[in-house]
Amino acid sequence: MNQHARLDPAPIPFIDVAAQRRRLGRSVDDAIARVLGHCQFILGPEVGAFEADLAAFCGARHAVTCASGTDALVLVLMAKGIGPGDAVICPSFTFTATAEVVALVGATPVFADVEETTFNLDPDSLRRACVAARKLGLRAKAVIPVDLFGQPADYDRITPIAEAEGLFVLDDAAQAFGATYKNRRLGALAPATATSFFPAKPLGCYGDGGAVLTDDEELAQVMRSLRVHGEGRDKYDCARIGLNGRLDTIQAAVLIEKLKIFPEEIVARERVARRYCAGLADLAAVPRLAHGSTSVWAQYTIRLPAGTRDHLAAALKSQGIPTAIYYPIPLHRQRPYQGYPVAEGGAPVSERLAGEVISLPMHAYLDDATQDRIITAVRRALAR
Ligand SMILES: Cc1ncc(COP(=O)(O)O)c(C=O)c1O
Repeated sequence: MNQHARLDPAPIPFIDVAAQRRRLGRSVDDAIARVLGHCQFILGPEVGAFEADLAAFCGARHAVTCASGTDALVLVLMAKGIGPGDAVICPSFTFTATAEVVALVGATPVFADVEETTFNLDPDSLRRACVAARKLGLRAKAVIPVDLFGQPADYDRITPIAEAEGLFVLDDAAQAFGATYKNRRLGALAPATATSFFPAKPLGCYGDGGAVLTDDEELAQVMRSLRVHGEGRDKYDCARIGLNGRLDTIQAAVLIEKLKIFPEEIVARERVARRYCAGLADLAAVPRLAHGSTSVWAQYTIRLPAGTRDHLAAALKSQGIPTAIYYPIPLHRQRPYQGYPVAEGGAPVSERLAGEVISLPMHAYLDDATQDRIITAVRRALAR
């Protein structure tokens, strides 16, 4: 090789699942080996044990695990009997699963806007979405606030509106499990909270997985039936129409080990977020936490003037630094959702954010030197 050839900088992972594997050492391998030993791959003892750990972690009475974060949302909507003729209010600036599940159960998603500061559901737009639903002759039955990028939605403002409008609150905490709102963990704030254990999530497994947290005994029981084809007294007594939506025992075994280190990982994520803020706040709009909230920083998402982020993404990519855009198109503008109603006044903030956001590498194992490389590269690109 020509000794003067320029070496490409080592690529940086966006999320370093392998670093976490190293930290966990043999604990996960041993946990999986135990399942391979007892062979109870479906609803084995690890599933119940993990559900108990998860409920205790967030202060909810019941944790009902399931096959994905999407199934977690579906199970709640099914258990609440939501279907055709019903409207469910969702923010437009979120991942497709939030609204997809509403359409899947035959109900109508009605899109509301989000707030500039937190990117989370705007309570005023929630009110206007209920008006839009009523005008269309729909029964507004539920609202799905999303705790986007790791930060809780504003439940103290959302709950009174939901109560006044008769809406069931289903918290989509797929990105934020572990975060707190006024000293309470998500999972204990809404009547039902859905989360995802997709590997890239703050608490992820090694495949797909999800859970619903609730204090409602009856709701938990119905969801336990729904996730096993609606089983009743036993396997071949069919009490209701359900689905195959169980968490694999192997994934539960992995999650038991990962939950043990999760509190430390949350602290590490907070540190990374603080360092990004210190290094970038003078150049870009960095994320802000609402008073009384903590975040688990599923993403570290900055905002740039429209039209400038492509330049930043290209400059970083050339230095081995990945970025991602969550989300380039608000849901009400996505093809499958264009026919669904939007709150009166539209969703202008969601549309603006879609053109301005860009997310930087974020995980609990981002060391100072690597993060400094990212910060320096962002600063250089933005200075140009
Ligand atoms: C906000 C939100 N809701 C729901 C989901 C669905 O979770 P899963 O991929 O586990 O089905 C995701 C996953 O990315 C998400 O980000």
